[in-house]
Amino acid sequence: MDRALLIADMLEPPRPGAGLFQHLSGRGFLTITGRYQGVPVSVVTTLMGMANMDFVVRECRSVADGQMAVVRLGTCGALRPPAKLGDLLVAADGAVCVRRDPDAWTLNDGRARYPVSAAVPPDPLLTSLLTDACRREVGPSRVVCGLDATADSFYGSQGRTGGPFDDQNEDLISDLLAARPDLISLEMETFKLLHLAACSKGSVLGAAFCIALAERYSNSFLDSATVSERELQGGRAALAALAAMPLADDASTLNGSSPHA
Ligand code: URA
Repeated sequence: MDRALLIADMLEPPRPGAGLFQHLSGRGFLTITGRYQGVPVSVVTTLMGMANMDFVVRECRSVADGQMAVVRLGTCGALRPPAKLGDLLVAADGAVCVRRDPDAWTLNDGRARYPVSAAVPPDPLLTSLLTDACRREVGPSRVVCGLDATADSFYGSQGRTGGPFDDQNEDLISDLLAARPDLISLEMETFKLLHLAACSKGSVLGAAFCIALAERYSNSFLDSATVSERELQGGRAALAALAAMPLADDASTLNGSSPHA
């Protein structure tokens, strides 16, 4: 919520003399709509997890006209150098999904406890605009491009160990790193955006990046002043990429159907 308000502060009103449009939905999603460099944009909170990202993408799609570009700015754990605390990690190679399979505990038949999906790529042009804008904001050494992993939990399927649950996840992060040499970040939403965009018949274009809030390899966390600074810089980069992105006026002409209610 605070991140959305910080970023929305950079918007111009939708019409001269009007205020920004603002709506808090019953599900708890805050939407603030205005313009950036003259282009209509909305800042929308997605809350946490893939289920919430599913609500946001599908329900925004149902009320927006024309092709829709979505840039996710989130936070993540950095999995390996050169990705380090405070960097902007761009999912330029897309994202894989890491799910906990409860049948592995129920049936105990040797199946994978945390199966990993194939990677889904982002929109290449939106990602390239986003990467350039991030480099302008924080400098090239603070922008790392690679593969993201989206987990269905902050805990078990992100390899956090200890506590009262039988998670059997001690090797999860080392296995992920060995299987995917381009893997840099671990979080909870990006894969869902990229997957829905890939299934949108061209009507949604997606790209994603995260502020590295934690370093999983050194167990350290970013201080709150730098988080706020990166939210502002990352927000500006996301808005610049969206404003520069060419979009088709009519989503129904793109190889797809019209949005549903
Ligand atoms: N968000 C996550 O999902 N994981 C982290 O480690 C940090 C932020």
